[in-house]
Amino acid sequence: MKLHTNPAIWHVASFTLFLVCVLSYPKPATSASGIASLLQQITSVWTRTLGGVLGFASLVLRSSNPPSTVDLIRKHRYPAETHYTRTEDNVVLEIHRIPHGPMLELFRLNRRIPVVLMHGILQSSSDWLLNTPSQNSLAFMLSNEGYDVWIGNHRGNLNKNSGLGQRSWNYSFHEMGVYDVPAILKYVTEYTGFRKIHYVAFSMGNTALLAALSKQPNLNSMIRTGIALGPSIFQDNYVNGWLKLIVPFAGLAEVLQNNVGSVPMLHPFVASLLHRILPIICHPRIDVIGVCLTVSNAIFGYDRGQITKEKLALVTQVSPTPISSKLLLHYIQELGSGRFCEYDYGSEKNLKVYGTTKPPDYNLTNVVAPIAIMFGEEDFLAHRLDALTLVNKLPNVEDFYKVPYQHFTHMDFCYAEDVRVLVYNRVLEILRRYD
Ligand SMILES: *[C@@H]1O[C@H](CO)[C@@H](O)[C@H](O)[C@H]1NC(C)=O
Ligand SMILES: *[C@@H]1O[C@H](CO)[C@@H](O)[C@H](O)[C@H]1NC(C)=O
Repeated sequence: MKLHTNPAIWHVASFTLFLVCVLSYPKPATSASGIASLLQQITSVWTRTLGGVLGFASLVLRSSNPPSTVDLIRKHRYPAETHYTRTEDNVVLEIHRIPHGPMLELFRLNRRIPVVLMHGILQSSSDWLLNTPSQNSLAFMLSNEGYDVWIGNHRGNLNKNSGLGQRSWNYSFHEMGVYDVPAILKYVTEYTGFRKIHYVAFSMGNTALLAALSKQPNLNSMIRTGIALGPSIFQDNYVNGWLKLIVPFAGLAEVLQNNVGSVPMLHPFVASLLHRILPIICHPRIDVIGVCLTVSNAIFGYDRGQITKEKLALVTQVSPTPISSKLLLHYIQELGSGRFCEYDYGSEKNLKVYGTTKPPDYNLTNVVAPIAIMFGEEDFLAHRLDALTLVNKLPNVEDFYKVPYQHFTHMDFCYAEDVRVLVYNRVLEILRRYD
């Protein structure tokens, strides 16, 4: 048996060493007295620390490099391109493109209408490519169906976003809306020559899209149709209202932010480290009892097998991505106010920034582009009641679709086994109406 060539065995060994050292640390004081006891304790603490560090380091060093978005596309023999666009506030965004399906000649002459796919919070363009082309990946499916697929990235995630610089973490979904969305729409329309394109967004991608369309109504003319999967717009019923308990603490975080400056909520270095460690810990052969899945179910809702252990190990290679604390604070403010409005700086600064003591609402009456809303009945992160509030405020709703599976949760929109049948076929049907 060639032990040294089997990475799984190495991972198990490193992880066990790490776990044993950490769990038995620190050693309780022994009854022996004087120098002997001191020496014993020091050696013991040191051995454990060393063991823990070695175990952890070997896990990181022996872990495989997480795949890039382009890797994930090419793995399935689809062509991949990388494009960059610069926002008006000088941030460079990376966009990935699947220009056509694997059978290039067949489709080359076709008129391929562009579709932009936009990820949710803690995600990146990679998250659209973890399902398989033949079964349940929206990106590959749309490519097969003759669309020109563009997969965007919002500022701050691990894809290239040079230029954030000084303002590094001073952004929320508002900046994603008023800077990122227009830059991406402009780039794709100009590059392809299509004046109107489709836009499919998940979760936070919708918060940014609707902020954009309400703040800059002229953008509506570039949208053929917007598909809102699990839209996080109103937050009144987030986690069935339970998380409102943390709202009072948002004020405290605000004070911190004003004093410490803008800080990341999840630092890029930590995120990169997680992408190396979590896939090992969550690997089905290592995590036999399914701890990762249990944790995921606890956070995102119990999804009853739609997200498999194998899928979760893939997801953790690319998620979670870094986010700013301002983004999180902005969502927490909405949780408290029940409104879809701009960032609340406190009444004094609001007066300076907005001319009013309260931040203004995003005016959804301006969103005249056709929007299709799709929600899951048991999705408590984008709650059905909040989806209903949204429908009542939008002037041009193309579809209000309840996913026909009672236990559909938030993350199922991206990673579920049956998501094609439950959701993506409907998405395709609506896109077709506007082709
Ligand atoms: C962040 O940007 C806003 C404007 O978008 C500005 O008013 C605020 O002072 C900035 N905050 C920090 C900490 O730089
Ligand atoms: C929202 O926009 C509509 C036009 O699109 C306008 O008639 C209405 O007064 C606006 N509402 C607010 C509160 O500004």
